[in-house]
This record gives sequence, structure tokens and C-alpha cells, in this order.
Amino acid sequence: MALLTRRALGTARPARRILGTALLGASLSLPLAASPASAVVGGTPAPAARYPWLGAVGSPVFFVRPAGQFCGGALVGPDRLLTSAHCVGLLRDLPGLLNVTFGRDDLAGKGGETVAVKSVRVHPGYRETKFKDETVPHHDLAVLTLARRVNRPVVAVGSPGSARTGRVAGWGTTSEDDLFNTRLRDAQVPLPGDAACRRAYGASYDPADMVCAGSPKADTCQFDSGGPLLAAGRLAGLTSWAYGCARPGYPGVYARLDSLP
Ligand code: ARG
Repeated sequence: MALLTRRALGTARPARRILGTALLGASLSLPLAASPASAVVGGTPAPAARYPWLGAVGSPVFFVRPAGQFCGGALVGPDRLLTSAHCVGLLRDLPGLLNVTFGRDDLAGKGGETVAVKSVRVHPGYRETKFKDETVPHHDLAVLTLARRVNRPVVAVGSPGSARTGRVAGWGTTSEDDLFNTRLRDAQVPLPGDAACRRAYGASYDPADMVCAGSPKADTCQFDSGGPLLAAGRLAGLTSWAYGCARPGYPGVYARLDSLP
């Protein structure tokens, strides 16, 4: 149950509120309990013009968020947006229900441009396993073909290489408790390396198709999925999953892009 599903974040946090149900059979649930120190967590407001290739993936059926936004995505060709497979899995055969908005600082505002989606391709290796209460998406990549070409710069895809820090951006929540952030934010995040993520997640972390980033000070969170992890100015990963947000010992996990088929 991938698309539009926001699972509550772990057994340590029992209090949770169901915000919406019966959305294409998926449910949206977010926790209400107190969260670890945080604020994208640890970020600052960013002008959308800083990320002209960054799209907000949304759908009018996702009425609980302005612009129906539930994920991010990165423009890699004039009509090609990379996003997470878990963002669009359930809508792959209903691409007409998806749209992408570029250039909007705050989803609650206007501005920027919104483009319809023509088709969805999900990575053939996409599958889901479990880590505690979290769904672990493997090969969490999808390509959206837009209904028209947009006149915007594309982002170059790369490998994290030996980078020690990266950058993340998104319209997602600023902590595990924040239900309502709609402002684009970005943050610098450490890249702690595969060993750190193996320690956290064991075999759920697959270094062949994942890269980990983040700390208790800065991390991505819900509704940031599909958005960028930049390393040395290149798109090195897409926000995918983690155990909660910004929890000590549990970095964020990103789908690697240098293993694209
Ligand atoms: N699965 C989340 C989403 O769909 C992204 C979670 C990332 N979490 C993290 N702590 N880095 O928006």
C-alpha cells in the first residue's frame, strides 16, 4: 500500500491521528506524540527559484494538502520527472490524476506552473519489505512523463561518491508532529556512509540501491519523498524512507540514482 500512505512512525509513538481515509484505498496517518529535536527537519525556508527543476507531485484527490501535494520530484528531461515509486505506485495506471507544480515557494500560495502527467513508469525492481512499522521501498524510483515539455533547467544525476555532506529540499513536514508545513525548505545533511545505515537498519538497507543521509539535526520527513538529495550539486538520491524523522541513530534513506537501469 504505497501511494499516499503515510504510516505512523514506529511503535515508540503510540498516539496518532487518522487525518484522512478511503483515499484510493490508502490512508493517511500521522503521529501526534512529541518528537525528537528537529526542524525538511532542521531546514530553513528556501525560494523555489533555487530549485527550478524541483516539482511538487500532487493530485486533486489528495485534498488534505494544498495543491494536493504528497511528494517531490526532479526534472531530468524537458518532460521527464524522477520521483519515488512509493509515491505513485497506486496511480501508475491513472496518470491523469497526477500533476506536478514547479516554482512555488509555498504550496498554499499561487505562482509557478502546474503540468499534467501523461504516463508513469515504475522501476521494474520496485518492491516493499518491512523494518519495524516502516515500509521499506526497494528500487524506489519512478519516471513521470509530463503532458508537455517545460521550459526549465534539468538537474544532473550523479553519484554521492565520497561526499560527506549533501543537501535536501522539500515541502514536507518539519518534524514528526508537524502536520501542516507547506513551505519549501532545504537543509544541509551529513552523509554518514553505508556502515552507519547498516547499523541502523541491518539488511533492510541495501547499499546497492540506497544511500543514507541526515542526522538528528537535519533530515527529510513526510511528504518530502521523491525529492532530492544533492551531493556536489548533482542529484544523488531521492527521499525514500527512514525510521521516523531525525531520530538519533536512524538516518534518512534515499534511492540511489547511479544504479538506474
Ligand atoms: N516516506 C516519506 C515520504 O513519503 C519520506 C520519509 C523520509 N524520512 C526521513 N526520515 N528521511 O514522504
